[in-house]
Amino acid sequence: MTFHIGASKGQIAETVLLPGDPYRARWAAETFLDNAELVNEVRGMLGFTGSYKGHRVTIQGSGMGMPSLSIYVNELIRDYGAQTLIRIGSCGAMQEHIAVRDVIVAMSATTVSTPSNTIFREVNFAPTASYALLRAAVDAAEKMAGARGIGVHVGGIYSSDTFYDERPDLNEQMVRHGILGVEMEAAELYTLAARYGRRALAVLTVSDHLISGDALPADQRERSFGDMIEIALEAALE
Ligand code: HPA
Repeated sequence: MTFHIGASKGQIAETVLLPGDPYRARWAAETFLDNAELVNEVRGMLGFTGSYKGHRVTIQGSGMGMPSLSIYVNELIRDYGAQTLIRIGSCGAMQEHIAVRDVIVAMSATTVSTPSNTIFREVNFAPTASYALLRAAVDAAEKMAGARGIGVHVGGIYSSDTFYDERPDLNEQMVRHGILGVEMEAAELYTLAARYGRRALAVLTVSDHLISGDALPADQRERSFGDMIEIALEAALE
């Protein structure tokens, strides 16, 4: 048990999937895991442990934004020994060739600010995904994509601190430098994994498009989220 996670030590698996939304953690666990058991409900940030193809997996909500994710990931790594951490979440697309419902596998996560910038100060640290996980996720995504009609994109994303952004000029620079999409958590996940020698990845569904203004219709959200979770679970078997 830690400040924010009520599970006992053995209740958290070495592989952890991290959706921002605790209700998505419940839906994912009920839909994809065998024998899913509730292991955390402190502050309503639900976590479940079960198995996927015989491999033990925990799905734990991380909350929104890097400060929230940082709390859960620090405790999962330092107190529960998590080894493989995969964020599953949504993002806003920043390139015209990307469509809503496509999947983005994040190779790197640019950011202006993370809870870690007190460490790096003048250094621009480059938060980077685990190559082994990235390769496994891309393999799984490409196998799935043809049959399900989803596009798969691999590249850099932008982890912002604000959803309601007052700096459109920053987004313009991200677009200009080929950043695929914007979300709010991956940079801190990658930084913590680097610090503690763990493996991390973010697999994201495009829920909205910053250039076209398109958004995923509510009735397609569940299916898109499911595609992304399957990709993350297959990558975790690597
Ligand atoms: N901005 C930040 N985070 C997001 C967005 C966005 O447009 N869409 C989904 N997560």
